[in-house]
Amino acid sequence: MGKSSKDKRDAYYRLAKEQGWRARSAFKLLQIDEEFNLFEDVTRVVDLCAAPGSWSQVLSRILIKGEKFGRAGWEEKKEQDRRYVYGDDSIKVKEGIGAPLKPDTKEQLNPKKDVKIVAIDLQPMSPLEGITTLRADITHPSTIPLLLQALDPESFDPVATSVSHPVDLVISDGAPDVTGLHDLDIYVQGQLIWAALNLALCVLKPGGKFVAKIFRGKDVDLLYAQLKLVFKRVRVAKPRSSRASSIEAFVVCEGFCPPKGFKASLDNPLGAGSKLPPNPETSGERTKPYRRVREDGITELELGSEDEEPEDDIRWIAPFLSCGDLSAYDADASYHLPKDRTSLDPVQPPTAPPYKRALEMRKAAGGAYGKTKGVFPESL
Ligand SMILES: C[S@@+](CC[C@H](N)C(=O)[O-])C[C@H]1O[C@@H](n2cnc3c(N)ncnc32)[C@H](O)[C@@H]1O
Repeated sequence: MGKSSKDKRDAYYRLAKEQGWRARSAFKLLQIDEEFNLFEDVTRVVDLCAAPGSWSQVLSRILIKGEKFGRAGWEEKKEQDRRYVYGDDSIKVKEGIGAPLKPDTKEQLNPKKDVKIVAIDLQPMSPLEGITTLRADITHPSTIPLLLQALDPESFDPVATSVSHPVDLVISDGAPDVTGLHDLDIYVQGQLIWAALNLALCVLKPGGKFVAKIFRGKDVDLLYAQLKLVFKRVRVAKPRSSRASSIEAFVVCEGFCPPKGFKASLDNPLGAGSKLPPNPETSGERTKPYRRVREDGITELELGSEDEEPEDDIRWIAPFLSCGDLSAYDADASYHLPKDRTSLDPVQPPTAPPYKRALEMRKAAGGAYGKTKGVFPESL
């Protein structure tokens, strides 16, 4: 698909280039923020699986530069619309669906103090001012100390498993290179969520938030229940910029409340010994749910059974919210483009994508889409 037809078929791809975002994913985070007000009282953030860096750009522009996007921008636009409707001539309503509200003057910027943002990805990521970027695999245990050191460079203790200055928010947009084999893709995605949650447990402060991409496979309810063990509120968000046809969604977990006795551990990630006691905040006096690590290393989660008393029944459905203003573009629709419009190049082409070599091999073999001449040359 050419750049121009992609512009037409994917409004967010085009908007991202026009508004200077490195990826269309930026709109997903902004639309989640519109619904959940993610950045209120937030100054320390970890952005996992961050390349090429559009979520980090959102963090930088909202927290470091103090621009108004997402929830804050939405509230300001509503206020402007209201004043316009009531005839306040000093208000010029800013045009364009999805267009960000650019601050007109420096006085309108509201940067936060002591902002700390650490971004991690397997792939190299072009630097962003004020953001510490690490190239690492979030599923590898060696990444935890790297992250702890990046968060607390002055007081880093190599044997510690938590930070002295914990973070307010962990976000993860991690996705494997999808194979099209749904079960396999969901499984690998599941590994990324577990790794992201394990990192979050080591660095989040009580009351902190965790936002992560999920694939809604058939067992996703188990994940919601597991997240509910450590967060007061767990909701599922589907931003308008995420295609309705995709199984992708985002868990938005608020009010981090680690169960009593829980200690983040590098040796036993996501668990604290053989049995995790119930969290009184979320489960009252119940003896369930709890986590048990079997001798063979498999973790079992005891959620209670259907024939137990109703008060022991902790079946629970995560609320599902569609987010993004109704006037926002529909990610599954095609839009007409003005005739005199030129297609822009992406803001930040991938630095070293894993598929780069495959593309080179395909090019050398004669091209794609049925034009490939025979097998790849051995020399490649
Ligand atoms: C959808 S992209 C993230 C886009 C990013 N949020 C943005 O706004 O630009 C998914 C990213 O997950 C990263 N990723 C996949 N597996 C990973 C792993 N095990 N450790 C770190 N990053 C990983 C990929 O390299 C890729 O950059």
